[in-house]
Amino acid sequence: MISQLAISGYRSLRDIRLPLGALTIITGANGTGKSSIYRALHLLADVAQGRLVNSLAKEGGLHSTLWAGPERISHDMRTGRTPIQGTVRSSRVSLRLGFAGDDLGYAIDLGLPSPGSAFGLDPEIKVEAMWNGGLLGRSNLFAERRGKMVRLRRISTGEWRTGLEDLRPFDSMVTHSSDREDGLEMLLMRERMRNWRFYDSLRTDMDAPARRPHILTYTPALANDGSDLMAAITTIRIMGDAQAFEEAIGDAFPGSWVGSGEDGSVTMQQRGLLRPLRASELSDGTLRYIMLCAALLAPSKPEILILNEPESSLHPSLLDPLARLLTKASESCRIVVVSHSERLVAALADNRATRTFRLEKDCGETRVHSDDDCHFRWTWPAR
Ligand SMILES: Nc1ncnc2c1ncn2[C@@H]1O[C@H](COP(=O)(O)OP(=O)(O)OP(=O)(O)O)[C@@H](O)[C@H]1O
Ligand SMILES: [Mg+2]
Repeated sequence: MISQLAISGYRSLRDIRLPLGALTIITGANGTGKSSIYRALHLLADVAQGRLVNSLAKEGGLHSTLWAGPERISHDMRTGRTPIQGTVRSSRVSLRLGFAGDDLGYAIDLGLPSPGSAFGLDPEIKVEAMWNGGLLGRSNLFAERRGKMVRLRRISTGEWRTGLEDLRPFDSMVTHSSDREDGLEMLLMRERMRNWRFYDSLRTDMDAPARRPHILTYTPALANDGSDLMAAITTIRIMGDAQAFEEAIGDAFPGSWVGSGEDGSVTMQQRGLLRPLRASELSDGTLRYIMLCAALLAPSKPEILILNEPESSLHPSLLDPLARLLTKASESCRIVVVSHSERLVAALADNRATRTFRLEKDCGETRVHSDDDCHFRWTWPAR
């Protein structure tokens, strides 16, 4: 299970490490780097989907996503005695992302394209490593990529063998070199990373997919756009924790009941009304809360579920029920919540399993503050 996240050289995240709890809250003022952490996690999931370089290109290419400050920030620069300025680089330009748990760890290091590359804005994958256990070391490394070459360690004998010799700079070893004989753990890791689930700004406008009809088919996890909302709710009711779902709805809207329209869209019977309200009639906040219930109580649990600002358009009175819903969901998978809402953060702070990280900017760099011990040992694979 993922318990450590390390990011270096990505936007304002010059060098950060986050120990993830069952429920991790990331909060801070505008521009402190919250969404960048969300995106960094997404980029790691993109590795397993074979989309990493493409996603970085959509963010404006390596030059937009690389830390734009100096390689090192001296004490005098921090105190304002000398201006922020670049010095001669002592290490290569790199954007590094990694995570680890008790069982497996993975890290990727991207850098500038080779001279003469036809895709001058695309980053190249320089190094990747996969290892057993939390901290990368020589003895627990079992798969390594350097440039075009991938080496894999034989499980049976512990010997190294060459896996690939011609991996392209934008392809990851995670998607291209997992074979059944020597790359079984890599295969497992890839499937785990593919399962990470992200919800960002679930749409609730009048044309939102969640307001449209949808076929009622087996749906163990809500789609990112919420389009299969009623199918996801029906699946929870048939094969998931139906009681938790009804309690979460009742907690926020006492006396209300979520039903299904003939066309497979969501309806809601509310106290005092003679007929259920159709999806098109539900308020934005009501629809978003129902979507969050469906997302968080889905019977298929990912290793980690990441929510970006789930509180948006929710009335403050819904934040305590949302906190209880998040707490309930964190019993069965890791949850990361990026939130602006002090009230939501305060409501979640009572939960012993919660880790809260407050982000601040210092000389353009994101710094992490936490009451918990934030430190763990981390080693990046060397270039
Ligand atoms: N290449 C870069 N190098 C350094 N800093 C960058 C780079 N690109 C963006 N930033 C900074 O990172 C911050 C953007 O971070 P992000 O979008 O994660 O903030 P946020 O905490 O989500 O803010 P909000 O609450 O407004 O959504 C901005 O302050 C921006 O100045
Ligand atoms: Mg943001």
